[in-house]
Amino acid sequence: MSEDKLNKNDYSPKLEITRRGFLSLIGLGFLGVIGSLVLQGFSAVRSIIPNVLYEPPKKFKVGPPSRFSEGATFLPERLFIINNNNEFHAISAICTHLGCTVNLAQYSPPKTYISRRTGKTVDETFEFHCPCHGSKYRENGNVYAGPAPLPLPWYELSLAPDGQIVVNTDKIVDHNFRLKL
Ligand code: FES
Repeated sequence: MSEDKLNKNDYSPKLEITRRGFLSLIGLGFLGVIGSLVLQGFSAVRSIIPNVLYEPPKKFKVGPPSRFSEGATFLPERLFIINNNNEFHAISAICTHLGCTVNLAQYSPPKTYISRRTGKTVDETFEFHCPCHGSKYRENGNVYAGPAPLPLPWYELSLAPDGQIVVNTDKIVDHNFRLKL
C-alpha cells in the first residue's frame, strides 16, 4: 500500500470536536467573559477609592513653649496658641459658621466690655474676626456677633518628652483647660 493511499484514509481523532467538548469550550469562554467583567468592575471601584488619605494628622507637635510669645500666635494648622503668662491653650481658627479662617484682631490699649454672663467688666487684648460673614469671637472664643452658631473650640495641649507642645485637634476641652509649665 502506498503512502498516499494511507494518508487519504487516515482518520485523525485530534481534529474531532465532540458535542460535549464543544459545550465545554463555550462554557469556558463564558466563564472567561464573566471573569473579565468582574475584574473590570473591581478595577473601576478600586480606582475611585484613594490609596492615601491626605487628611492632616489630628495630633501634632508645634514646637517648644519658647516659640510662643505672650498673647495669641496663629499657626498654619488653622489654630491659635495662646500664651498667658506661661499657661497655654489652643483655640481653633476655623469659623463655626462656614469654616473660613478667622483673623486675629489685637487691641492696645485693651478693649473693655461687660460680660453678659457674669456682669463683670472684662479687658481684652485680642479677639477673632471672620472675614467671610462678619462673625466676631471674644478672646476665649465665645461668639458675640455675626451668624456663627457656636464658639471656637479649644483643643487639648500636652507636652511631649522632647519638650515640644503637642496639639490634639481630636480632643475638645473646656475653657478652664490650661497647659501650665
Ligand atoms: S464663615 Fe465665618 S461668618 Fe461665615
